[in-house]
Amino acid sequence: MTQFVQVCEELKNNPKTWLITGVAGFIGSNLLETLLLLNQKVIGLDNFATGFQHNLDEVQSLVSEQQWKNFTFFEGDIRLLEDCQKVCATVDYVLHQAALGSVPRSIADPIMTNSANITGFLNMLVAARDANVKSFTYAASSSTYGDHPALPKVEENIGKPLSPYAVTKYVNELYADVFAKTYGFQTIGLRYFNVFGKRQNPNGAYAAVIPKWTSAMIQNQDVTINGDGETSRDFCYIKNAIQANILAATTENVEAKNQVYNVAVGDRTTLNDLFKAIREELNKNNVVYNKDAFYKDFRSGDVRHSQADISKAQKYLSYSPKHNIFSGINEAMPWYIAFNNKVS
Ligand SMILES: NC(=O)c1ccc[n+]([C@@H]2O[C@H](COP(=O)([O-])OP(=O)(O)OC[C@H]3O[C@@H](n4cnc5c(N)ncnc54)[C@H](O)[C@@H]3O)[C@@H](O)[C@H]2O)c1
Repeated sequence: MTQFVQVCEELKNNPKTWLITGVAGFIGSNLLETLLLLNQKVIGLDNFATGFQHNLDEVQSLVSEQQWKNFTFFEGDIRLLEDCQKVCATVDYVLHQAALGSVPRSIADPIMTNSANITGFLNMLVAARDANVKSFTYAASSSTYGDHPALPKVEENIGKPLSPYAVTKYVNELYADVFAKTYGFQTIGLRYFNVFGKRQNPNGAYAAVIPKWTSAMIQNQDVTINGDGETSRDFCYIKNAIQANILAATTENVEAKNQVYNVAVGDRTTLNDLFKAIREELNKNNVVYNKDAFYKDFRSGDVRHSQADISKAQKYLSYSPKHNIFSGINEAMPWYIAFNNKVS
């Protein structure tokens, strides 16, 4: 039995109360689904800045009536300390996901990204510390590696941030570290690398590449690649990220705390190969896309290559990703197709 399976069994036998901030978003709603299916009690906070009621409705449709009763939702804002205090009061484990994602969004409006990602993060740290929660796990980001050229990325070696978004995620790590030193407040940061899967928003200027291209192909629209297509990423299927969150939140290993971990697979896929993989998977699902991709300029703030060394999470959290990019795309594809059929 893997550590993750064992932890899930223990949680089922001894349910806990979890707080998920950003619960109406992509990663938050997937965490919610998993935890409710494990019969956990969940409190969720979201202001719907980039999250959706339909994500919560979909989770409701996938769990039992009794499991759904274990969920309490607060519409609120992490930029307000009192909202953070309200939701932290009675929880065991905090999974702090709420933030404004997207490098280009942060370049367009750094002040808004700063307020959600830094002020909001600090409010959550203070509220969780004062509520004496058992653990605080937060969404960090691979963007923190910035201009550091080494591959694969090892947690200790970071460069300078390349965008306001990357600054905010790095500041989160600095605050978390200082809270450990000054208040003894324990945290774990998970540096996600391009997470993808169901309920990731395919629409809008700031959509992530996999849902955006998949939707475009389903609708037979053009796909545009920023740069020459040889930019590469360590695409991480949502189930791997969920596993990392649950392992991090529940770890009793003192060495594992006050650390940041890469959450990825340890592979690297170019945008050109990603384009082909999505097209092939759609084909298998009887969606035929015959167009070639268009190429335009590189996007400012983007890192050229990204690939994680995941050995630290393997060692301290017993993290063991079960999906690579291809099995992830394969599993998520029916959802993308159904979602696009629903909205069109
Ligand atoms: N998806 C990825 O590949 C990726 C990579 C690195 C880091 N992350 C981080 O993971 C977390 C979750 O990302 P996601 O992909 O699910 O994005 P998402 O946009 O789908 O979810 C973020 C959620 O936070 C909520 N939110 C934003 N500002 C808020 C505020 N002020 N108060 C309350 N709620 C607020 C949004 O409404 C949304 O529901 C974020 O912290 C993001 O920076 C994601």
